[in-house]
Amino acid sequence: MRKIHIKTWGCQMNEHDSERIAGILSEKGYQMTEDIKEANLIILNTCSIREKAEHKFFSEVGRLRGLKKDNPNLVIGVGGCIAQQKGEEIIKRAKGVDIVFGTRSIHEIPKLLDGLSEKNKHLVNVPEQEINTILYPTLRNQGIKALVTIMYGCNNFCSYCVVPYTRGREESRPKEGILKEVQGLADMGYKEITLLGQNVNSYCYNSGMDFSDLLHYLHPVNGIERIRFMTSHPKDISDKLIDSMAELPKVCNHIHLPLQSGSDRILQKMNRGYTYSEYKKKIDKIRMRFPEISITTDIIVGFPSETDDDFKMTMDASREIEYDNVFAFKYSKRPNTAADRFDGHLSKGLKEERLSQAMELQSGITTRKNREHIGKTVEVLVEGKSKSDNGRLTGRTETNRVVNFRGHEKFIWRFVDVKITNANLSNLEGMISD
Ligand code: 5AD
Ligand code: SF4
Repeated sequence: MRKIHIKTWGCQMNEHDSERIAGILSEKGYQMTEDIKEANLIILNTCSIREKAEHKFFSEVGRLRGLKKDNPNLVIGVGGCIAQQKGEEIIKRAKGVDIVFGTRSIHEIPKLLDGLSEKNKHLVNVPEQEINTILYPTLRNQGIKALVTIMYGCNNFCSYCVVPYTRGREESRPKEGILKEVQGLADMGYKEITLLGQNVNSYCYNSGMDFSDLLHYLHPVNGIERIRFMTSHPKDISDKLIDSMAELPKVCNHIHLPLQSGSDRILQKMNRGYTYSEYKKKIDKIRMRFPEISITTDIIVGFPSETDDDFKMTMDASREIEYDNVFAFKYSKRPNTAADRFDGHLSKGLKEERLSQAMELQSGITTRKNREHIGKTVEVLVEGKSKSDNGRLTGRTETNRVVNFRGHEKFIWRFVDVKITNANLSNLEGMISD
């Protein structure tokens, strides 16, 4: 039996690509295994968004090489963003790797594996090709939540970001293929879908259908109860989208809207296409329509030339907007990006200091907002048993908060009302209400 183990780093897009890799290879007779030692094919699906992710990958390959001593037939494949960017260089630098495939050539893996022979030990295939019409078989984890790609790539070229170089130009998937996939998921019992794209708000198919239209088009699918989407670019959030969110009850009361910086000077250097006040107006508009909405964001601290004042503007923005959660990152130099060539790179220490200040500020806000739920009853879609406490169940609210509570296994994959009794930084606790 050929067994495959897949290790995934990075974003939901990568997670979903791994489900596709699993789907393609299981059609070729491979079986998935959690136990890396019994695998004869290991796939590393890599992330290059920040330098740290890249380091983790190279040290993991070093560790895995050792497995080849006991199992000389073991094949190691590398995909994802590092593979797309570095291609051939991976074979040279990361000894032990046999095949390399890009973010747009997942469907080529079986061909690459067939081509591997004693004579031809290393193969690379990292073309930039059109992929929007390819229908991939997908092997998802059993459950009720599914990721659905609606578009590939990104055209925004934010000056710090490597994604346009690793995932290529923007391409929207035909609406019919997306609908068919969502209907298939509903038939299999999935209840929640997350529509994925680097910038879902610029979805455009055949110049006739935009993202709001797509939400209307998918909304009627019976069985799907919750629709989420990520990521939204603030410059492309339209009134039409806000109206659609209000009209469509399955669209969840949560939006992830990356701010990146509160300083207009830095935003301009980042090539984000909005000022803080333009961003804030959109937040106000969204909150006016949906007072209970949860708003989360990404920020980058220590962007080249960021002064104390610029950083203070980001902190002020966090205080003013009071996000439900903030994902804060230290700026990381990425090859080929415009910001890599900017002057004024900050020291590691200063970036770390700013990161811990930003995180401390947000921890207080998130904890307070979570604790405001105490005494209230929330609807939870139950995902399974809690990992930290097997006696408890875990699920999420429409606003994407994790809720842990005691309850019978029969509630798994169902909606239940939970009365919140306690809350901390990362989750809510409660009991099923009568
Ligand atoms: N350094 C730090 N953070 C980055 N991000 C993207 N590129 C970089 C970088 N070079 C962050 C952004 C983005 C999130 C997915 O990762 O905040 O929204
Ligand atoms: Fe990167 Fe900007 Fe595209 Fe997001 S919108 S993937 S941050 S270039």
